[in-house]
Amino acid sequence: MTAPIIECRNLDKWYSGVHALKNVNLTVKQGEVLGLVGDNGAGKSTLIKILSGVHTPDKGEILMEGKPVQIRTPKAAMNLGIETIYQYNSMVPTMSIARNLFIGREPLRFSLGGFGIMDQKRMARESVSAIADVDLHLRSPDALVGELSGGQRQGVAIARAMHFKSKVLILDEPTNHLSVKETDKVISFVKGLKQQGITGIFISHNMHHVFQSCDRVVAMARGEIVFDSPVGKTSIDEVHGYL
Ligand SMILES: Nc1ncnc2c1ncn2[C@@H]1O[C@H](COP(=O)(O)OP(=O)(O)OP(=O)(O)O)[C@@H](O)[C@H]1O
Ligand SMILES: [Mg+2]
Repeated sequence: MTAPIIECRNLDKWYSGVHALKNVNLTVKQGEVLGLVGDNGAGKSTLIKILSGVHTPDKGEILMEGKPVQIRTPKAAMNLGIETIYQYNSMVPTMSIARNLFIGREPLRFSLGGFGIMDQKRMARESVSAIADVDLHLRSPDALVGELSGGQRQGVAIARAMHFKSKVLILDEPTNHLSVKETDKVISFVKGLKQQGITGIFISHNMHHVFQSCDRVVAMARGEIVFDSPVGKTSIDEVHGYL
């Protein structure tokens, strides 16, 4: 049996007076797509910010593939293969698609003096193939991300996670403010994670989206996990009863 890709043990998090996470235990299996649901303020974003190195827990530990890990910075999360897509700001609008794909991982060419120069040609070439892999049709890798629709931007962010072979992709309400058509596209990206062998954690207020695209649903309320079930063995009504 393979160790779970992520295991959270007894996580606690306080924001001054607010007890945002209360003894959270969560195991995420390799290759599954987990839907995380719960009302506003339940602690969902706090939990995933801990996994993505934005916050550190006050108590508890995290294991990845059975080994204890420290995720102190977003860079540390990235190095462990954990990529996070937020509703906003997972892209820099004033930079091209190609530059956004390689943010923080720019390939360098070395000049005679030993200075690294970004390898623009390689970035353009690889971003065309990365974007084609998620079945996204964009004119040019040089187009600015600011000119893309919300759904296309999320597509580029997902292409980035796939291209760099992230192990875990976390999506925190990636469909907020998207049109129905764009939302469908993002849902199909989430479904596509499985085929790529990427483990997904999908946070959404829309239970239908979770039931359409996830293997398992976990519900949080007031900083605690209150429900955990395979999607096939529960219903939207049952999950609602726990929130
Ligand atoms: N940076 C912060 N400083 C202080 N309190 C915070 C901070 N971030 C979150 N909180 C509080 O922690 C609790 C959990 O918030 P969190 O953002 O994790 O909820 P959530 O489940 O993601 O909610 P939503 O569905 O609205 O995004 C809330 O009471 C919130 O007000
Ligand atoms: Mg949130």
